[in-house]
Amino acid sequence: PKAIYIEANGAQYEVDVEVGQNFMEAATENMIDGIIGECGGVCSCATCHVYVDPEWLAKLPPVGDMEESMLDMANDPQDNSRLSCQLEMTAELDGIILRLPVSQF
Ligand code: FES
Repeated sequence: PKAIYIEANGAQYEVDVEVGQNFMEAATENMIDGIIGECGGVCSCATCHVYVDPEWLAKLPPVGDMEESMLDMANDPQDNSRLSCQLEMTAELDGIILRLPVSQF
């Protein structure tokens, strides 16, 4: 399955993500600058913040407690904010659109 990442400047990347891989890892492996993933995916940095395209939000698992408190520390969180290290690809999510914030800090 594929994920589409759209940078704040409009640059768009279509990336193959294996089922079970998280979207932070997939982005950093593909050199997408808008996602940093400083903590390596353990939900303690909020530098993997993404805005999930509204169409896809309902297909995602609910925000976890840790994720919720880290999202408060993200730059400019919105209702559709998630931490991409806490989201794994599934067959259902093929084509998911993730928009990246202007900055992760
Ligand atoms: Fe650190 Fe997601 S990579 S919270």
